[in-house]
Amino acid sequence: MKFFIDTADVEEIKALAPTGLVDGVTTNPSLIMKSGRDFREVVAEICAIVDGPVSAEVTATEAPEMIKEGVSLADIADNVTVKLPLTLEGLVACKALTEEGIDTNVTLCFSANQALLAAKAGATFISPFIGRLDDINVDGMELIRDIRMIYDNYDFRTEILAASIRSANHVKESAIAGADVATVPPAVLKSLVRHPLTDKGLDAFLADWAKTGQKIL
Ligand code: E4P
Repeated sequence: MKFFIDTADVEEIKALAPTGLVDGVTTNPSLIMKSGRDFREVVAEICAIVDGPVSAEVTATEAPEMIKEGVSLADIADNVTVKLPLTLEGLVACKALTEEGIDTNVTLCFSANQALLAAKAGATFISPFIGRLDDINVDGMELIRDIRMIYDNYDFRTEILAASIRSANHVKESAIAGADVATVPPAVLKSLVRHPLTDKGLDAFLADWAKTGQKIL
């Protein structure tokens, strides 16, 4: 499973990049607003830090404008993936940009039928929003499982990018359900490594090692 980080905070990306766990980055207009920075500048900086796909979202709502915005965003760097909303216009733009060889991430997916349409439009990634479904008492993980089955049934190449992830458990369940990618907030990525028994075990080993009076180097 690939990990993307879901943030437009360049400092957080810089801090996590050396872990080797960052396969890509996703941004959205809300994350750009939160960063308080210029959109194109932030995307360019992220693309220089991370080799993998960096999603940058269009804000037009009509296909011709979405296509123009998408082409312009793709010009920022080779690893920009153009993010498009899951609307009919977004699907038209997805098809056109795909035909121009531009990678796409169709976002705001809340149903299996929407995911089916995105795959037919040639999307590189589909982003089902797990957390926002859970928020309205709908099982977000069931959507990941349904999409996995549909894509496998028809051999669609579109990658399932589990989004709106809120917890370590979401990551584990997405991996079990066969999502290709999980886009995770930095805090969730950091939480994946932690286990109290690891800390306890390490403390005990180090205490016993100190008693031996030895050094490795
Ligand atoms: C990712 O591409 C999405 O924009 C993001 O995961 C949304 O997460 P949220 O529901 O926590 O805002």
